[in-house]
Amino acid sequence: MVVLISGAGSNMAALLEACSDPEYGAQIVAVGSDRAGTAGQKLAAEAGVPTFVVPFREYTDRSEWDRAMSDRIADHTPDLVVSAGFMRILGPAVVGRHPAVNIHPALLPSFPGARAVRDALAHGVRLTGTTIHFLDEGVDSGPIIAQMGVPVEDGDDEARLHERIKHVERRMLVDTVGRLARQGWTIEGRHVRFGRTEDSVTDATEKKENR
Ligand code: GRF
Repeated sequence: MVVLISGAGSNMAALLEACSDPEYGAQIVAVGSDRAGTAGQKLAAEAGVPTFVVPFREYTDRSEWDRAMSDRIADHTPDLVVSAGFMRILGPAVVGRHPAVNIHPALLPSFPGARAVRDALAHGVRLTGTTIHFLDEGVDSGPIIAQMGVPVEDGDDEARLHERIKHVERRMLVDTVGRLARQGWTIEGRHVRFGRTEDSVTDATEKKENR
């Protein structure tokens, strides 16, 4: 897999650790980012994982940046792209070419977007959580693969709640990505299940060719 990050990369670090066990069934072939010098990139480089940066502001428009990002990902021929704390919206050049999943710190479809933890707190929900979903061309709108709830506690602020969510996210991401790698997946409409059938492999190939 290629893992995309924009910051601390604690989810990526959890995947990196899981990948050190050959039984896990997946390897990180590269870590990509939209900005240079992030803590997550340093961590990946120290672990000997190739890294690349496609800085958003070096491109005149979003679609040009998206195409460049897609090409850099393709250089590493991943079977899966994992957006784990990547703070930019990936467009059709990436999403139409690579199967990609995203981890989001709320129970989608509630609170999509970049301020999910803040928005959930402001709304006064008593339960929030985290979602892993396939990426489509919308914002946090693709088919859901896994979710876990995290209760909101009295006195929570955004940082404290987000830290508890991230604790749950890391376990769920490692578990989910491992299952995707070992078992494959089937998507029917909005429904995702682990495991591959001959039909679903054919469907996926046809869908890819049709894009
Ligand atoms: C996670 O909460 C993820 O859901 C969100 O950004 C955060 C990334 O944290 N999209 P980290 O960089 O993996 O520590």
